[in-house]
Amino acid sequence: MTKKPAKKSRRTTVVVCVNRMRGPRGKCCGQNGSLKIADRLEAGIRERGLNVELERIVCLGKCDVGPNLKFVGGEFRHELSLDDVPRLLDEFEKIAGKNEKKELLYPGA
Ligand code: FES
Repeated sequence: MTKKPAKKSRRTTVVVCVNRMRGPRGKCCGQNGSLKIADRLEAGIRERGLNVELERIVCLGKCDVGPNLKFVGGEFRHELSLDDVPRLLDEFEKIAGKNEKKELLYPGA
């Protein structure tokens, strides 16, 4: 009987829009809480030791439905609030798992 290999976690990159300039339609993620969302997500990623890299970006082109997050190469999450942070961290953990190599994802943090 062969033992099934353990599922390897895959490092995942997510981008959070932190744009603070209002677009032509008068909305932007940075003025609707995305900076605090990014801060909390980074803290949660560190605390849980997740295999996730979070990058801050200026505008994902979905200003009307922000605050926005995007999995690089994957789906968006729209209309985020601080209440969504625990659910997002659970989702990150399910997708990417733990950072088993204990890499320092946020060297300055
Ligand atoms: S300001 Fe966030 S998507 Fe444009």
